[in-house]
Amino acid sequence: MPTTTGEHSLWLAAQPASGFPPLTGEMTVDVAVVGGGLAGLTTALLLKRQGASVAVVEADRVGSGASGNNTAKVTALQSTVYSTITRRHGREAAADYAAASAAGVAKVAELVEVEGIDCAPRRLPAHTYARTERERSTVEAEYKAARAAGLDVRLDDAVDLPFPVAGAVRLADQLTLHPLRYALGLAAAVDGDGSAVYEHSRVREVAEGRPCRVRTDRGTVHADRVVVATHFPILDRGLYFARLEPSRSYCVAVRLRHGSPPATLAINAGSPTWSIGSTADSLVLAGQSHHAGAHGVDDRRYQRLVDFAHRHWDVAEVTHRWSAQDPVAYDRLPMIGTYTPWSSRLYVATGFMKWGLSTATFAAMLLADLLAGRSRPWGRRFDPHRVSARSLPTLGRLNATVATDFVADRLTPARSGGPQDVGPGEARVVRDGLGKVGYYRDAGGELHAVSLRCTHLGCYLRFNSAERSWDCPCHGSRFDVDGNVLEGPATAPLDRPDS
Ligand SMILES: Cc1cc2nc3c(=O)[nH]c(=O)nc-3n(C[C@H](O)[C@H](O)[C@H](O)COP(=O)(O)OP(=O)(O)OC[C@H]3O[C@@H](n4cnc5c(N)ncnc54)[C@H](O)[C@@H]3O)c2cc1C
Ligand code: FES
Repeated sequence: MPTTTGEHSLWLAAQPASGFPPLTGEMTVDVAVVGGGLAGLTTALLLKRQGASVAVVEADRVGSGASGNNTAKVTALQSTVYSTITRRHGREAAADYAAASAAGVAKVAELVEVEGIDCAPRRLPAHTYARTERERSTVEAEYKAARAAGLDVRLDDAVDLPFPVAGAVRLADQLTLHPLRYALGLAAAVDGDGSAVYEHSRVREVAEGRPCRVRTDRGTVHADRVVVATHFPILDRGLYFARLEPSRSYCVAVRLRHGSPPATLAINAGSPTWSIGSTADSLVLAGQSHHAGAHGVDDRRYQRLVDFAHRHWDVAEVTHRWSAQDPVAYDRLPMIGTYTPWSSRLYVATGFMKWGLSTATFAAMLLADLLAGRSRPWGRRFDPHRVSARSLPTLGRLNATVATDFVADRLTPARSGGPQDVGPGEARVVRDGLGKVGYYRDAGGELHAVSLRCTHLGCYLRFNSAERSWDCPCHGSRFDVDGNVLEGPATAPLDRPDS
């Protein structure tokens, strides 16, 4: 569960019970998949379809991660991704990404159809729009880059939005759906006939060997191959934590008094981001991104989205608010393939840059090929072990920030006062010998205390008052106020000062 506030996304709020059991004892399958989001579930289903027995091992509930906390746009047009990839990697790379993304969208539509998944799919155009004249040149550049990459885009001035836009790129016939119901449909198709889905089973360790071993607290899966699809990879080998930046964003769902939500999957080309999606009855807005674990995260991020909704629509009610994060690779391409350069049995899919509904799907297609010894024209482009010389400055900046946070948070004095000074709804950091303890007092007056040393690599955690969680500025692990892991790469809970 990605929040401790008790708030749920539009999709998770009415979560139908999935009811898969926890993993207990020992079992053997061809492939173990760690993580029951769209990457893990789609990979498992494609592998099952090609004759493998699979076990999906999910820490929480299937679809409860980023896959159940997004804006539900399944589209190959993704903000300004084609200008970015062209700039960093060249035209061929952008063409590969376009082909892969279009294949991802088509595969989602096919799986919905063939598996008969009840997830309210709707075909809509996608737009990257210019909010201001200054954004117009960015939109035009994206049009050129997307077109050169092979997408059938066009420039469009008439976008179904209630405010003027200074032009837009349009890609027809993209898709939106209920992402959680889609995930549950995939899980139902995976489970059975020698394959299985397990929930509430956090993987603590993966050993690559013959066979590989995937261990949780109560059970072990032995498998010929293992796919790690935990969103942020949980294993430190491969140094993914040094190459990925988790970026967090905020979403609200709104019911309108008059009119229908816009019939487009829209996002603007500049900063700040105003992403606009919809269901048949709700408007969905997202934006307000920041590096996960940043200082000073508060409720104003939601308020700005609500203000934007009021400015442009006749809002009857704000029904849901939620936030989530997604890893962005330093060189702005997803990472899909063997876990380390020398792995032959361990695979990974990550770095979906907030476009994982199509990207997780093409990642699954690629992994299903790799495990079967097949290849695709665009397959090698997303090799996790590529080196992008042009992106090395970004890599340097990313790790310099982590190193600065690591040191600065050790030197920053804790606030004066002790736990007795923490009021209801407040959090406070108190120095405890060489370490720091985080206190949070809930509305009922109960005090919750945890050691603030992240169980991943030891950075100090910061309080996120928008979500009432302790978040790590280094690689984005998050913990609830009692220290339970909400998001990895950490797999172990925080120490409690009295334990
Ligand atoms: C605010 C926001 C809006 C977005 N909107 C869109 C959109 O409109 N369109 C789009 O294409 N993409 C969107 N995305 C991105 C998309 O939601 C994600 O890229 C995608 O869902 C990632 O899928 P996943 O399977 O990799 O991760 P997840 O869905 O997070 O699945 C990973 C799973 O692994 C489990 N796990 C973690 N650690 C362990 C462990 N140790 N053991 C066992 N299980 C573990 C987690 O519990 C989780 O269920 C958005 C992202 C954000 C943050
Ligand atoms: S997530 Fe890596 S140190 Fe916290």
